[in-house]
Amino acid sequence: METVAACAATGGAHLRGHVTLPPSPDWRSAFPSLGQRVNGHPLVYLDTAATALRPTPVIDALVRFYRGDNANPSAGLHTLARRAHAEMEGARAIVARFIGARDPLEVSFTRGTTEGLNLVATAWGDANVREGDEIVIGMAEHASNMLPWRYLARRTGARVVTFGVADDGLPLLDDLTRKVTARTRVVAFSHVSNVLGMINPAREMCAIARGPGRIVVIDGAQSVPHLADDVGDLGCDFLAFSSHKMLGPMGVGALWGRRELLESMAPYQAGSNMAHDVDLTTEVLSEGGLKYSAGTPNAAGAIGLAAAIVFLEAIGRPAIATHEQAVTRHMLQRLGGLPGVRLLGAPDASRRIPVFAFVAEGRTPTDLVRALDAEGIAIRAGDLASLPLLQRYGVRAAARASCYLYTTTDDVDRFADALTRAMRA
Ligand code: ALA
Repeated sequence: METVAACAATGGAHLRGHVTLPPSPDWRSAFPSLGQRVNGHPLVYLDTAATALRPTPVIDALVRFYRGDNANPSAGLHTLARRAHAEMEGARAIVARFIGARDPLEVSFTRGTTEGLNLVATAWGDANVREGDEIVIGMAEHASNMLPWRYLARRTGARVVTFGVADDGLPLLDDLTRKVTARTRVVAFSHVSNVLGMINPAREMCAIARGPGRIVVIDGAQSVPHLADDVGDLGCDFLAFSSHKMLGPMGVGALWGRRELLESMAPYQAGSNMAHDVDLTTEVLSEGGLKYSAGTPNAAGAIGLAAAIVFLEAIGRPAIATHEQAVTRHMLQRLGGLPGVRLLGAPDASRRIPVFAFVAEGRTPTDLVRALDAEGIAIRAGDLASLPLLQRYGVRAAARASCYLYTTTDDVDRFADALTRAMRA
């Protein structure tokens, strides 16, 4: 298989040529972990919103890096260091292209969405947010898009203001419009809720939120894996997302930011690899996103993320969307037919990714996880790090089944049948 660097140079064509894909839904054969039995049953994996499975080309990319190019990246030193550098910068170019960024230097590699959001809250927030200012976030935000802003508010004397969610799970745009005022310095929201799977009208929300002296930040953790998020089209200032929810390795992600903002911000962390000509009193900071990557980078992670993107592109967004819509419709139909099961959010396939939070009469979400696990079916339960949203629906915990391109309607049937048995037990 060609390297990520070669792939970036050809817009992905080299690597695509080496990813052979059977037709849907046999993409499953690319996911080795799906071949196992769990508690005596073939695995049904419905926990993608927490982390996706990895296909063989991603696993191979990680192994290839550590077996071959294994070096601390450098543009001008020994052969392995130069190869690692070329691979890593190739990965940056692939990530940039995938989200419609015009300049790879607008992409910083992070540990994931959480670090990306903390980076913005610290590097932009500490310099620009003052006492009396306001930070507007959605009620549906996951903790990673709540707490960094809460801590920023505590550090600066600013206030966090939330906009609400309608019964169908979509944001109340009138409320957002009311909450964004001359005092607002930051507006932050997720494009897709990690609980409801509802697709928020992010473009419209950015248009409402934008204004002088203010940034608009999108948490793309659940949207970038499923939708064609394009930063040129969305109209945000920052977009943070994770590799591990989109088939890539854990512990890596990306933050896109407008170049002029990245240049204007102070570094988030300081150390090696983010500045040069560092003497006892001065330093010259690296350009754009490179300034935010102090220390030895997670090169294998970045390369693995690029391999995941190439895999997704080889299948193609339209094919994935068509497959996910079919899975979503089937899931909504099966859940809708289960007495005592309440789906959170609207049962509207066209406004959802295949993520489904639900509660069941007489069974705690944890009971359901255990009952389904006994049949080899992996779902998640708890407050899903989104307690305010769950409270909005009158509960403190929910179960969640979440799917991806490797989920079949047979998986959905096994899940729904097992859930029916769990309800009757
Ligand atoms: N944000 C991840 C989830 O929703 C951890 O499960």
